[in-house]
Amino acid sequence: MTTPITLPHEQPAWHALALAATQLPHLRALLQDPQRPARMTVQAAGLTLDYSRQRVTPTVLQSLIDLARQSRLEAQRDAMFRGEAINTTEQRAVLHVALRGSADDTPTWAPAVSREVRTELERMLALATRIRAGDWLGASRKPITDVVAIGIGGSDLGPRMAAHALQGVVDQPVRVHFVSNPDAAVLHQVLQGLDPLRTGFVVASKTFTTQETLLNAASAQRWLADAGVAQWSRQFIALTAAPAQAQALGYEPDQTLRFWDWVGGRYSLWSAIGLPLAIAVGAEAFTQVLTGAHDMDRHFAQAPLAHNLPVLMALLGIWQRNFLATPTQLVTSYAAPLALLPSYLQQMDMESNGKRTHADGRPVSVATGPIVWGGLGIDGQHAYYQLLHQGCHRVAIDFIGTLRTEVPLPLARQHLQFNQANMLAQAQALSVGRDAAATRALLIQSGLSDAEADRLTPHRSFEGNVSSNLLWLDTVNPATVGALVALYEHKVFCQAAIWQTLAFDQWGVELGKTVANEVLAALSQGQPLPAGTDEATQAALRFVRDAAQASHSLAATLSGTAPASPSPSLA
Ligand code: F6P
Repeated sequence: MTTPITLPHEQPAWHALALAATQLPHLRALLQDPQRPARMTVQAAGLTLDYSRQRVTPTVLQSLIDLARQSRLEAQRDAMFRGEAINTTEQRAVLHVALRGSADDTPTWAPAVSREVRTELERMLALATRIRAGDWLGASRKPITDVVAIGIGGSDLGPRMAAHALQGVVDQPVRVHFVSNPDAAVLHQVLQGLDPLRTGFVVASKTFTTQETLLNAASAQRWLADAGVAQWSRQFIALTAAPAQAQALGYEPDQTLRFWDWVGGRYSLWSAIGLPLAIAVGAEAFTQVLTGAHDMDRHFAQAPLAHNLPVLMALLGIWQRNFLATPTQLVTSYAAPLALLPSYLQQMDMESNGKRTHADGRPVSVATGPIVWGGLGIDGQHAYYQLLHQGCHRVAIDFIGTLRTEVPLPLARQHLQFNQANMLAQAQALSVGRDAAATRALLIQSGLSDAEADRLTPHRSFEGNVSSNLLWLDTVNPATVGALVALYEHKVFCQAAIWQTLAFDQWGVELGKTVANEVLAALSQGQPLPAGTDEATQAALRFVRDAAQASHSLAATLSGTAPASPSPSLA
């Protein structure tokens, strides 16, 4: 039986917030308060959140905290940490925090979980160390110098993002490459230039049934075989929660690392799925990533709601999404090593909170997860920022910056200051804007006539009032990267807890996988599509098949063996 829940819009605080949203001052006015920056800055696990540029008043903040309490956020959080089966559509616990936990954690998970986690982590770090030392020998007894990590979604994005972020921080004696997309061009581009006798593959898949990953792995196995590597399995490592599935496909037990069904795909960076990262940065740095995340876990578990970084970010996101009607969340980094963070967060947030059903099965009564997007700030300034300043969309922004740099270039400090200044400038311009009177005065001051100033004023005024968080890392290092990822994980969790949705399943993605398998069987093996398949899909399938047939016939004609057939059409 489904436990009855109180829907978010039924909470008393929801009504208070809806009313407050109608009476909000412009950010320009709010930012006159000299106490605001100190009052609205929180630190944890090496990160500093300055949320003073959020369009909130003290009353709004208090109501947001009330909303968290009324939603029983702390109880829901504690249930997750205790390992209760909070993923109720799959009857699973959600224990990625246990992957980075320590023995003295309270609340704590089952001791057996801790033991298994530790054993597998030690195996994984030992393997990474061996590979980095050149002691992983390929089938022809040559040391592996390049590792190609094959996986997709949560089995790719996290290790890829963190390895990219940390590549300048530690030596990389073994090159790590990532392949996710099944377009042959991607694998080809990575493999060309690599030596098959010295290239190892890490195949990461929680289920070991993901077709994109299995196709790329099969293609890589064929590449090895064509180069004369007789026993491909010696050069392959499997990372999976389904070891039997991997072994049925020929992977070797001593080259299989496992994790558990209570680790969601998009939360698996901390598990064996992190092996490519551990190979890229080494066991010590990988451990620091775990420690950084663990520090954030402790903060999340223990800090009062009003000073709790993930809770605050979640509440401010809810304020934007539900009360200020802001449908998108921009993550813009002024630290270039974090270039891949937005695509990582897209999965984290949109796969978790892209839901339209409450936990009890009722359709959602309020808007849920935003569209998450982003990239590098300075590059964005020369591309899409114009829309932020003068476009018609509401956007909430997380600016991410660093306080220090360790880049060994003589002008590194100037580079850093340039990035910091731009981040502050954009946050200022977007929040305060420039009203018509100020713009007109400036134009007159610059020597324009009254008529010319009047003509240009609307074009050169800026509404402002765009809310943003400033999130500062000391530097981009293993611990801050770990803490940052854990921060966003918990933010997403808190939002689902308040929206009363389930953050840990992804049935929409599963539907896509099922339908893709049916269409692939029809396309590659000529099997019939399931009865009732819509006409558009059937027509498109005929179009693709006819195109293949036409190109086949053309090739035959050119080689003088068959007549050409007409071009395909969607008719
Ligand atoms: O993208 C959907 C998803 O199910 C993710 O949750 C998961 O990270 C990804 O597919 C890959 O799945 P697997 O690790 O089983 O190959």
